[in-house]
Amino acid sequence: MKNSIFYTSDLLTPAYIYDHVSIISALDKLVDLKEKTDCLPLYSIKSANMVGLLEIIKPYVSGFSCSSLFEARLAAEVLEQSQTIHITTPGYRHDEWDNIIELCDFVTLNSINHWDTIANKKDVSTSPGIRLNPELSFVNDERYDPCRPDSKLGITLEQLAMANLKQEWDWECIEGVHLHNNCKSTHYEELKHSVEKVMTGLLEFNLKLKWINLGGGYLLNGEMNLTPLETTIKWLQDKFNVDVYLEPGRAITDEAGYLVSTVIDLIKSKNKMIAVLDTTINHLPEVFEYQYQPKVMTASVHGKYEYCLVGCSCLSGDLFGDYYFDKKIEIGSRVVFENIGAYMQVKANMFNGINLPATYLLCRDKKLKLIKKNDYETFRDLV
Ligand SMILES: Cc1ncc(COP(=O)(O)O)c(C=O)c1O
Repeated sequence: MKNSIFYTSDLLTPAYIYDHVSIISALDKLVDLKEKTDCLPLYSIKSANMVGLLEIIKPYVSGFSCSSLFEARLAAEVLEQSQTIHITTPGYRHDEWDNIIELCDFVTLNSINHWDTIANKKDVSTSPGIRLNPELSFVNDERYDPCRPDSKLGITLEQLAMANLKQEWDWECIEGVHLHNNCKSTHYEELKHSVEKVMTGLLEFNLKLKWINLGGGYLLNGEMNLTPLETTIKWLQDKFNVDVYLEPGRAITDEAGYLVSTVIDLIKSKNKMIAVLDTTINHLPEVFEYQYQPKVMTASVHGKYEYCLVGCSCLSGDLFGDYYFDKKIEIGSRVVFENIGAYMQVKANMFNGINLPATYLLCRDKKLKLIKKNDYETFRDLV
């Protein structure tokens, strides 16, 4: 039983657990899409980059997409020679260009200035592309909206036209276009709309494109209508004769991740029972960033017992929220957060000297394999 394994006593808590079977089932959807449309799926390693996880994902994708030199180095260590490494970031550093170009097969430039740098590099074997900002916002929270006003992410069609007027670009050399303008979306019409806007706008520039990268930002579950995605891919292939890449992150890893914690204290306050966990929101940073309430296994809306689940740091706002349970919680009880596989472990920190969760893989044979545990030395050497 998958669930009972989270409650076994020899599991070190707090613990991140990645479920192999769940990752494969997300990847199977990507493979279906590839078979249907001939697209080239990548995995965006920013969402979760544990090496054991990357090894599981690797056989299902054409390559990895990265957002820094370190991520690209990790991709190069894990991937086969025949697979490709893609990068885009607003943070290209002058002292890293040579290494980036050497490691990455596809480099997407984020600004007009980046073009000057790459144009001056001779014998570059990487395929250069540009990130375009479609200026279409679908995300309510500006902090996560790549198309927020005055965004730093990508070049607008207007900026491109200006550069064209000033003849700042050698159009012949631009081989690809990248766009990414969504977050957790379940509506591929939004992607279709963005792609159409960008590609129609590009027609006047007469680019000789070889590829387009549709970014990430969308989920990929069974209930979603994938038709707009499939027709967009076909449209791009037929009309522009380009390879179409996708680079999802969250859609692959989110549902596969769990954080298992143990209740270490119970406090009866004036209005509530407070359960203090051996974890903290710093192990699930999006809870604090987003005011997002993670799902808890065994919590039930109709449960008789209400608890405020709190983290063990000194921050008063270190709260996961109020939950109801059918059974009373005791000191030593386990609390398991679900669907936390993306953007949690990669952003976790050791504030207050609280140890980082151990990492386990829940293998296909339903056994837990300890991948990594941290200790005092991890804390001492972190900064
Ligand atoms: C350029 C780019 N590609 C891909 C992704 C992956 O997005 P997601 O994990 O939402 O699929 C991101 C996430 O921020 C991104 O910025």
